[in-house]
Amino acid sequence: METVDPNKVPKVKFYNGAEIPTVGLGTFGSDHVSADQIAEAVYQAVKIGYRLIDCAAVYGNEKEIGSALKRLFDEGVVKREDLWITSKVWNSMHHDVRGSFEKTCSDLGVDYLDLFLVHWPFPNSHAPGVSVDSRDPDAVPYRHRDFKRVWAVMEDLYENGLCKNIGTSNQTIAKMKLLLSTCKVKPMVNEMEMHPHFQQPELFNFLKENGIAAIGFCPIGSPARPDRDKTATDTVPIQDPVMVKIAKAHNVHPAVICVKWAVQRGQIPIPFSVKPPKFTMNLKCITEDPLTEEEMNEIKSIDKNNRFIKGQVFLWSTAKDWHDLWDEDGTIAGW
Ligand SMILES: NC(=O)c1ccc[n+]([C@@H]2O[C@H](COP(=O)([O-])OP(=O)(O)OC[C@H]3O[C@@H](n4cnc5c(N)ncnc54)[C@H](OP(=O)(O)O)[C@@H]3O)[C@@H](O)[C@H]2O)c1
Repeated sequence: METVDPNKVPKVKFYNGAEIPTVGLGTFGSDHVSADQIAEAVYQAVKIGYRLIDCAAVYGNEKEIGSALKRLFDEGVVKREDLWITSKVWNSMHHDVRGSFEKTCSDLGVDYLDLFLVHWPFPNSHAPGVSVDSRDPDAVPYRHRDFKRVWAVMEDLYENGLCKNIGTSNQTIAKMKLLLSTCKVKPMVNEMEMHPHFQQPELFNFLKENGIAAIGFCPIGSPARPDRDKTATDTVPIQDPVMVKIAKAHNVHPAVICVKWAVQRGQIPIPFSVKPPKFTMNLKCITEDPLTEEEMNEIKSIDKNNRFIKGQVFLWSTAKDWHDLWDEDGTIAGW
């Protein structure tokens, strides 16, 4: 089995001094990869050198991942403190963040998290696998007074040492500005969609200027996401001629170039695969053969501002369309 020395994997430092590995394993199997397959991938990935695992309660596999972690601890492969475990409070649990944290810890079999995120800024939810047209009748627009209450519990978990770091996910500049103006503890990180066709330069730079790190989800452009999550205007980053050309020059798959680009740009990608050759390559690739400055600039030039995870299922009844979720003109819809 090919392994990667975790000490050779660079780290990103948060403003509080914590250091997160620059590549992690995604664990969202959607409806085509089972919880057991993902747990086995976590077990194998840690054995080959992964130290960061991106979990979430809504992925429905934290119990199985917990069993994989127990095997790794029992077999002496790693100790708890060697790992960086991220999880997220799901939208339907905004009223009980503490309860969500406790359930996640119990399922994963750990007594603290390295990073706990608010998965979405909205309390709006949906059943697994529903069509993008499906609407939660109780869905509401963003309300900062409610989010402030959610964040206060996150701050409490941080201050009590139960979560070593706290952060947001799917935030926008407008919502982050509000949070920064009212929080006691600034988020250490925001987890957000980022790949060569959706680079989010404004939000990425805003976070950087404010000392907040960025974890990039769907770093490969999530090519295997279900058709219901695709629209006619969606592109495929790994088929982009620039990505294909650079991949050929490095003798790797374009997916690997996505990961290299993300790390060299300063973000933390969390690519998903349960296939050992793929997840091994996604970690190994950042320890060798970096992209040139020219290649980095070429990839910068192919941004298409093409968001894939639009979040349609979180829309409230009076919302126009998915753009209302993302504050594209700097104002919060329904505010
Ligand atoms: N915070 C949030 O709201 C949020 C939202 C979405 C996702 N996430 C997180 O981000 C993670 C990653 O996103 P994602 O799973 O949607 O998409 P992704 O990582 O962009 O893409 C995964 C796909 O890329 C392929 N792939 C991976 N490595 C490859 C390689 N070396 N060569 C060729 N193909 C490769 C996989 O192929 P195979 O199918 O063959 O393995 C899989 O189909 C999730 O698992 C989850 O942890 C978070």
